[in-house]
Amino acid sequence: MKMIGIVVGAVIVVAIASVVGCKLFASRSTEATVALTAKLPGKVAVVYYSQSKVGNTSTVAKWIAKHTGGELVPIETVEAYPDAYGDTLKAAKKDMENGGTRAIKAVPPLDGYDVVFIGTPIWYGTYAPPVAEFFKTHSLAGKTVVPFCTHGGGGAGRYFVDVRKACPAATVKECLTIRGSNQIERRLGTGITSHHTEDDVVKWLNAVFK
Ligand SMILES: Cc1cc2nc3c(=O)[nH]c(=O)nc-3n(C[C@H](O)[C@H](O)[C@H](O)COP(=O)(O)O)c2cc1C
Repeated sequence: MKMIGIVVGAVIVVAIASVVGCKLFASRSTEATVALTAKLPGKVAVVYYSQSKVGNTSTVAKWIAKHTGGELVPIETVEAYPDAYGDTLKAAKKDMENGGTRAIKAVPPLDGYDVVFIGTPIWYGTYAPPVAEFFKTHSLAGKTVVPFCTHGGGGAGRYFVDVRKACPAATVKECLTIRGSNQIERRLGTGITSHHTEDDVVKWLNAVFK
């Protein structure tokens, strides 16, 4: 009987701690977000490519849109990459050898936006071919461009340098580099869980827009 009392007591303590913890996190994020929105130099678009809807890059893109009030602008390929990882590696390599791009569905013009976040999974050390096609079809001259990427452990590679080359007439801000979850976690729909949190993204946003 005494044992049951101890167990019930422990469960109640853990439940209260979780609720208080969530509330504290939520209020910290909300305060940071309100302060951030005031510092953004104009209307925001969050353009990104992610291989699947529960992908690592789309998870980060949604966090950025949530905390900046930005419009989510997904880049979607006309023909999807294959499901199997090995086959995607081969298809992406072929695209990169074949001019570096892959056909995408029309992305609306970004004339009305002042700040453009641009996100990609790192593929062979840089942005994925669908993002190369986006850069070919959209000039970001005069805008503030903020690159972000997710990778499988190799880091951002040449991504930041390549974004600068693709948008020579834009102001390019500091890149966010996030290690993504692995293929199995991603297929289970858990996205970025194991390496980074939404709070990391809020901290980065506040560092970029001081
Ligand atoms: C074709 C291909 C090439 C990749 N190349 C790299 C790489 O060069 N370096 C790295 O760290 N991860 C690499 N990865 C892993 C992805 O960058 C990583 O899983 C990313 O978080 C996936 O994002 P997504 O879920 O938004 O598609 C590659 C993945 C694929 C499919």
